[in-house]
Amino acid sequence: MKLLVVGSGGREHAIIKKLKENKAVTEIFALPGNGGMAADATCVDIGAKDIPAIVDFAVANGIDYAVVAPDDPLVLGCVDALEEKGIPCFGPRAGAAIIEGSKVFSKNLMKKYGIPTAAYEVFDDMDAALSYLDTAPIPTVIKADGLALGKGVIIAQTLEEAKAAVVSMMQDKAFGSSGDHIVIEEFLTGPEVSVLAFTDGNTVKPMVSSMDHKRAGDNDTGLNTGGMGTIAPNPYYTPAVAQQCMQEIFLPTIAAMNAEGRTFKGCLYFGLMLTPNGPKVIEYNCRFGDPETQVVLPLLESDLLTVMQATTNGTLADTEVKFGQKHACCVIMASAGYPQAYDKGLPLDIPAAIADSVYVAGAAIKDGVLVTNGGRVLGATAIADSLPVAIEDAYKLVEQIHFDNAYYRHDIGAKALQAKEV
Ligand code: AMP
Ligand code: GLY
Repeated sequence: MKLLVVGSGGREHAIIKKLKENKAVTEIFALPGNGGMAADATCVDIGAKDIPAIVDFAVANGIDYAVVAPDDPLVLGCVDALEEKGIPCFGPRAGAAIIEGSKVFSKNLMKKYGIPTAAYEVFDDMDAALSYLDTAPIPTVIKADGLALGKGVIIAQTLEEAKAAVVSMMQDKAFGSSGDHIVIEEFLTGPEVSVLAFTDGNTVKPMVSSMDHKRAGDNDTGLNTGGMGTIAPNPYYTPAVAQQCMQEIFLPTIAAMNAEGRTFKGCLYFGLMLTPNGPKVIEYNCRFGDPETQVVLPLLESDLLTVMQATTNGTLADTEVKFGQKHACCVIMASAGYPQAYDKGLPLDIPAAIADSVYVAGAAIKDGVLVTNGGRVLGATAIADSLPVAIEDAYKLVEQIHFDNAYYRHDIGAKALQAKEV
């Protein structure tokens, strides 16, 4: 079987490595992929948003199954376009990907169907938003409507910060047209949990839970990033909480999307906060998380391609999705300066003996040498029987990988360990 994976990051590398475990897979193309995954896939220089070129490539190369991993192509209708040419895909159509593409859509969906989330108001007029803030509880959370590379969320600790955020989104267009509509919502507190779930539109099968570390610095300081590391399973996500989330959030979301005529197939990502008033949805993503995937998929014992095809064919109820009892920790190594300015083109040394445990996110091959080519360069994942050992082993991997000015957090998993002691 010939497979195609759209995307280029560590998440895509983790998906590709797992897909390769299926003996029927003869070739995997990554569009565009990156130089660090060249041993696992054939990288083709077609951008993840260039949908006509992706479709032409898939047709010309007789692709049997395509996995569209990033949010942009999903929201832009990459799955729709491939399916029109008869190529089966993993991922939602554009009509369903809107659950991530528009925060206004997802908030309104949750309100309409009684799915627990932070209380909110939507604004398309700046003056109305500003005068609302005068009476809103502080801290408050301001969100741009559309995709904003994970940066369109501002937690304002003061009224002044809140007003500045509204002006920067709605007047200065800091996130482009994503700021035409904004959501102002209640500030929630509690541990955060990421749950990725396979769904064929009827059945939903959650994967093992995980915990992201979004801030750049140790002890959750510094700027928000795409994610600096993950652990799985998330100890805060107990069987009782999982049961509650299934009944109050997962099943109602799948049903709501069907009722709206927007059946969701693929991986639905639930960003949850376990508040004193129960689990609430912080955000939906229409795709696998990055770097959640780098700890979740290594723990999957079932065949990934078979499960993915079951989401496409509507046979997920009859397909086993089994996770082992082990623990995983992924530490992201970034170029110093990320998420702001950073150097590229630094020689990158990953010893062959540990390459299986490394998911490369931003690298290129220049003059035959592997060099860094992104802010998040790679993730090193260790699997162990306990969380403390997984964490220790992940940092042992990090010590063996070299590039100049490498930066990583030293406390991935520390918060999860605290939970275990409670
Ligand atoms: P997002 O980019 O939507 O994942 O949001 C980034 C981060 O902002 C989340 O991981 C949360 O930590 C935080 N956040 C978003 N919405 C809220 C909220 N209503 N209350 C508290 N924190 C929030
Ligand atoms: N790690 C968070 C995300 O993928 O959006």
